[in-house]
Amino acid sequence: MPQTPSILFVCLGNICRSPLAEAALRAAAVRVGVAIEVDSAGTGAWHVGDPPDRRAQAEARRHGIDISGYRGRQVQAADFRRFDHIYALDRDNLAELRRRAPADATAVVGLLLDVVPGRAGQAVADPYYGDDAGFAVTWGDVSAAADGIVAGLAQDRHSCEGGNP
Ligand code: 4NP
Repeated sequence: MPQTPSILFVCLGNICRSPLAEAALRAAAVRVGVAIEVDSAGTGAWHVGDPPDRRAQAEARRHGIDISGYRGRQVQAADFRRFDHIYALDRDNLAELRRRAPADATAVVGLLLDVVPGRAGQAVADPYYGDDAGFAVTWGDVSAAADGIVAGLAQDRHSCEGGNP
């Protein structure tokens, strides 16, 4: 049996963008019927142990998802071996991940919006210092990325099963 794919999302604080990405991917995986391990983390440590920002919680709730139980954590060296893919929400965090990757890292590290056609190289903008509307934009971005990720996983699964020549 192939191993369950594992994906980690990383932003700066782990209270706004990456928890929403985690929630969107969990929901998309259930919708499509793919098994997947998902988590999120921050490069910064300011919000370790904190629940997601209340505006992120409200945005998730608008889509029927409760993320109040999520807790902030900082990315660790072990994450680079534990996860198959680590997606940074923006270029600064991507650079920071590349800087921190241990020599024995096995995870493929990339920029999240690279999985969305037409959005390659773009950042999921940080909504933390803005108003509530920014969180709806974040949700749109991370949902599009989650759809792209599960579509890729479903395709991999079919090719493993010999469904595609
Ligand atoms: P996030 O947003 O990286 O999307 O979780 C932020 C949350 C907190 C801070 C910065 C960005 N902060 O500086 O505390």
